[in-house]
Amino acid sequence: MAQEVRGVVAPGRNEPVRVETILVPDPGPGEAVVKVQACGVCHTDLHYKQGGISDDYPFLLGHEAAGVVESVGEGVTEVAPGDFVVLNWRAVCGRCRACLRGRPWYCFDTHNARQRMTLADGTELSPALGIGAFAEKTLVAAGQCTKVDPSVSPAVAGLLGCGVMAGIGAAINTGGVGRGDSVAVIGCGGVGDAAIAGANLAGAARIIAVDIDDRKLETARTMGATHTVNSKESDPVEAIRELTGGFGADVVIEAVGRPETYRQAFYARDLAGTVVLVGVPTPEMKLELPLLDVFGRGGSLKSSWYGDCLPSRDFPMLVDLHLQGRLPLEKFVTETIELTDVEAAFERMHHGDVLRSVVVL
Ligand code: APR
Ligand code: ZN
Ligand code: ZN
Repeated sequence: MAQEVRGVVAPGRNEPVRVETILVPDPGPGEAVVKVQACGVCHTDLHYKQGGISDDYPFLLGHEAAGVVESVGEGVTEVAPGDFVVLNWRAVCGRCRACLRGRPWYCFDTHNARQRMTLADGTELSPALGIGAFAEKTLVAAGQCTKVDPSVSPAVAGLLGCGVMAGIGAAINTGGVGRGDSVAVIGCGGVGDAAIAGANLAGAARIIAVDIDDRKLETARTMGATHTVNSKESDPVEAIRELTGGFGADVVIEAVGRPETYRQAFYARDLAGTVVLVGVPTPEMKLELPLLDVFGRGGSLKSSWYGDCLPSRDFPMLVDLHLQGRLPLEKFVTETIELTDVEAAFERMHHGDVLRSVVVL
């Protein structure tokens, strides 16, 4: 029997989101119904609303969530009713070429939530990023649920489901930051700050935060940045070189997604360093570089998707580190809000006023 719950729906391109009654069916084979306890507001939800991702309206928004498994379908062994879980948007198949080569974060055949939830009139909903968790309950693939220590606050745990994982993973998984490394992070929003926290966790000796907004640089310090550079006031490439003995950083993380910051990241690394690209550019953006510079600089240039994370490995570990006081995830929760506040939260996010607004249910 389908259950009626409230959910935040984007009805059409650029239309304001609405809280609607939605129908959540019983879990089928391989599925789970999760009672959502918290779900963060991410830029990607806004992009769905604006039409930047797909035209498959209506969308059920929300994808940075934690909650308790209510029921599971046939054959589910990963989780059981009552488990406290963080949801992920890459339930890997375990069988494709990427999975078999040991790089499941590139899985070609992710098994995320299917389109089974509907509006009260039967209209099919598209769950954002295969989750749809701005809702009292949601139906997901069991592989999207990862059990973590239930003593963590749901608002904090949910953040690991997207932006915070992307940033921490960019530093520790993609960038491979190690003890004593110098790290520069360009762009200190939620993702960049998480990269700073990740670099700090990994034992980086110097963490240089770069942004155009002094308020962001102040917050970056509380996340573990040891130096800050306002790139409106000084050339960040020069500043990073100066702060690293003239060499450039061992790992540079770009968390903006613009041509000029991609360029800065490219030139701010040590010759043997690594550039990690997390910021997502738009399709029309281009970057021109002298080929001799591309050839002449060693090291590597990597992009990081979802922090190259393995949810079953990374989510419980990061929750444990947080509970031990070694990873200040609570600092990412700027405010807790209700389902009806999502539209207003988009506005605040757009103005750069918050790291994360988190819907708490
Ligand atoms: N140089 C340095 N920093 C900049 C610049 C610039 N030219 N332009 C913007 N910024 C800073 C902003 O001041 C802000 O602090 O980049 C930060 C971007 O942060 P948010 O808008 O909060 O975005 P966030 O959620 O952190 O995501 C950053 O990562 O995963 C991707 O899609 C995401 O592309 C986005 C990026
Ligand atoms: Zn796969
Ligand atoms: Zn997201």
